[in-house]
Amino acid sequence: MYPESLVFLTCPDHPKVRLSLDAGACYAVDGAILRGWLRCAVCGVRYPIHDGILDLLGRLTLPDSPAQLTNHMSLTAWGYERIWRAHALTLLAGEPLGYRRELPLIAGLAAPDRGGLFIDVACSNGLYARVIERARGGAVGQTIGVDHSLPMLRQARAFALGRGLRISYVRAKAQALPVLAGCAAGMMMGGSLNEIGDADTALAELRRTLAPGGRCVMMGLVQARSGRGRALQGALGAGGVVFWPLAELNRRLTAAGLRLRAQWQYGVVVFSVLVAYDDRPRGHFFGAGQALPAAIPADIPHNHASQEF
Ligand SMILES: C[S@@+](CC[C@H](N)C(=O)[O-])C[C@H]1O[C@@H](n2cnc3c(N)ncnc32)[C@H](O)[C@@H]1O
Repeated sequence: MYPESLVFLTCPDHPKVRLSLDAGACYAVDGAILRGWLRCAVCGVRYPIHDGILDLLGRLTLPDSPAQLTNHMSLTAWGYERIWRAHALTLLAGEPLGYRRELPLIAGLAAPDRGGLFIDVACSNGLYARVIERARGGAVGQTIGVDHSLPMLRQARAFALGRGLRISYVRAKAQALPVLAGCAAGMMMGGSLNEIGDADTALAELRRTLAPGGRCVMMGLVQARSGRGRALQGALGAGGVVFWPLAELNRRLTAAGLRLRAQWQYGVVVFSVLVAYDDRPRGHFFGAGQALPAAIPADIPHNHASQEF
């Protein structure tokens, strides 16, 4: 993690209290804090930074489901992007939806060139975090990736370093984001809500963390329409992966205080842009007739737009 993230990072048990760095930390040449301790001034608990990653969970964190357990394995972390991720959306959507289409969409919707803090929640190998950090351009800001799996975060940091990207990685639960309320210009969540455990609390955390005028960009999977798709999803359900119908997903988003501004569906894959419910309107970033951000390549089929809000 990098020192500039310290202005946002809070104690998991005291979300209004910023963590402070103990003396004696060890730094890398790029300024990353490689080893050290962060301390909460209220409860006095110290959290370690090792190999450049802040760990707010410690050793005794048990995964909630078999799906979560899989993500804690080093082999899964190694193969997630190398083997699965690039093909995942195409397989799930039933149409070409590779990185060439997905990643400009995410960058265009999140618009990191607005500057500020961007957080990739349940980031795995940090794909969206890297996309955002790269698309920031000259804008002032920073990117933080959060996941509860240490092997995933180690791989994420290795990928970011290999590409010369300055991204802070933090081990924490999506249900207790260790960041100040209202501080994020952008939150991204890619495919994680389906397996996150307590989804409503995780959504409430996204809402708490969004700054006024901030956007949350979410890619998720909804219930399949075909019998075969539903059977497969039913089997995954036993492992702790949940697939709601689109209306149920949207009901939960609203209940968490997130207002849907735009949504596109490709098979079971749904991209949503959300703002805080009580945020005052700030121009038309997705107005009628101008539904897609400029960054989307021309070959994105616009007829997939299911709803715009
Ligand atoms: C489907 S993968 C995420 C993929 C990634 N966002 C992407 O687009 O490539 C799900 C990730 O969520 C993480 N995860 C699941 N439940 C979590 C929770 N409650 N808190 C933090 N991370 C969680 C897992 O460790 C895993 O890395």
